[in-house]
Amino acid sequence: ALLGIDIGTSGCKALLLSAAGEILASSTATYGLSQPRVGWSEQDPAVWIEGARKAVGQVMAKCPDVELICIGLSGQMHGLTPLDKDKKVLRPAILWNDQRNAAEAADITEMAGGLEALISQTGNRMLVGYTGGKIVWMKNHEPELFASLRHVLNPKDYLRFILTGELATEVSDASGTGLFDVRRRKWASGLIEKLDIDPSLLPDCHESHEISGCVSASGAALFGLPAGVPVAGGGGDSVIQTIGSGVIEPGELQTTIGTAGILAAALDRPSPSEDGRIQMFCNVAPSKWHAMGVSLNAGGAMGWFRSILAETGHGDQLTFDAIVEAAASSKAGARGLLFLPYLNGERCPHPDPLARGAFVGLTARHTLGDIGRSVMEGVVHAFHDMHGLMKTMGIEGKLIKASGGGAKSALWRQIQADMFGCDVVTTEGAAEGAAFGAALIAGVGVGVWKDATEAAGILRELTREHPDDPTGDVYRKAHRIYRDLYAALSPSFC
Ligand code: XUL
Repeated sequence: ALLGIDIGTSGCKALLLSAAGEILASSTATYGLSQPRVGWSEQDPAVWIEGARKAVGQVMAKCPDVELICIGLSGQMHGLTPLDKDKKVLRPAILWNDQRNAAEAADITEMAGGLEALISQTGNRMLVGYTGGKIVWMKNHEPELFASLRHVLNPKDYLRFILTGELATEVSDASGTGLFDVRRRKWASGLIEKLDIDPSLLPDCHESHEISGCVSASGAALFGLPAGVPVAGGGGDSVIQTIGSGVIEPGELQTTIGTAGILAAALDRPSPSEDGRIQMFCNVAPSKWHAMGVSLNAGGAMGWFRSILAETGHGDQLTFDAIVEAAASSKAGARGLLFLPYLNGERCPHPDPLARGAFVGLTARHTLGDIGRSVMEGVVHAFHDMHGLMKTMGIEGKLIKASGGGAKSALWRQIQADMFGCDVVTTEGAAEGAAFGAALIAGVGVGVWKDATEAAGILRELTREHPDDPTGDVYRKAHRIYRDLYAALSPSFC
């Protein structure tokens, strides 16, 4: 069997997949994150390892007789995991949704010769949240720790180190450092030199399906796994989960509603967006690239809404399903109520750590259902905004493949179908997210499938929503108002 392990933001998932493509078991161990200051977001890498140990232990206990043929890793991207000369963690990892390094991102852009020059070297702008800006932040703000820094890893690559002893990454996660030349699929050495970053801080980089090492004796003892099992490169969660949904050819879009909201497409060529607001990464398939817009506020916005309602003392009844049911009793357009989801600042389409959320159009008539619905619709408006940017790059979508926890809601899928005017499908395994994609890529690594396209051939369609044109017109009319609200409100953000 193939084992996929995903180091997520809210937990670690392990999944066992048979070589025939059957999910044998999956298990998640949850953990928290710490937000020591507004806009900061950190996690102790030890909690990832403990989470992985639990989740792996649980799936292996469910299937004690499986023979593991390969392991694939995935994880939250961009998280700076700093190690010293003894490969000990120097400080808590600074995560993808951390907003502290706007000044460093701006400095990097200037040192690279401006935005256009930066994009020509990497294919990307240095978005706040990318690993590169965090390295410079550490240098500026924690010089003593920085002096001891010898290795920089992303989260899943730290798990790889503990499992195999190898310091390595692969092209999709490397893309998300902002220090990687996605066209050549190599570290952007010219830029790294200009930024005065020691290139030996960065690990060796593989293609995603390549074997990066094997489970070591200490990894075997810690995780209860056999030593010697090969570990494939794997991929950053938001890239590798496109394989798990079967989005491999141009023409299809993937939406993911997890903590973040991701709109993604596969491309045959790297074609960076003019201002870098759309992320252009190496795909986990070697001759493909990956375009995506990431909103920092999707399932997270819904989670916020639920948590403030729970404070009213009715927490037990206010499950996610109960809110969705109330939202279903409202109407398309939430009776004129619009929600801007930028609760934690935003990345795409507005790269602005100071962006803030808002309800606009609130009246005394609005019900809990209307408000819940406006939160769900706001998340899809954000997808629609990102799609507007993608269209200027020639990326169209004739079909949406929905994934992430939010894809379990038929209402949320229908809102997407109506607003985008195309079918929305879910496929088997997509709800398992990145761990499923990681198991598929591990299978490619050891020849179970010839390539990602063949691996994705095993996916079966589970649900399909069709667009309703009159409802779509209501959403698109609302979108024209939504689209202008960020600019109108931004003077009030502080
Ligand atoms: C991708 C990104 C998020 C994280 C969260 O650029 O920031 O998808 O990987 O899991």
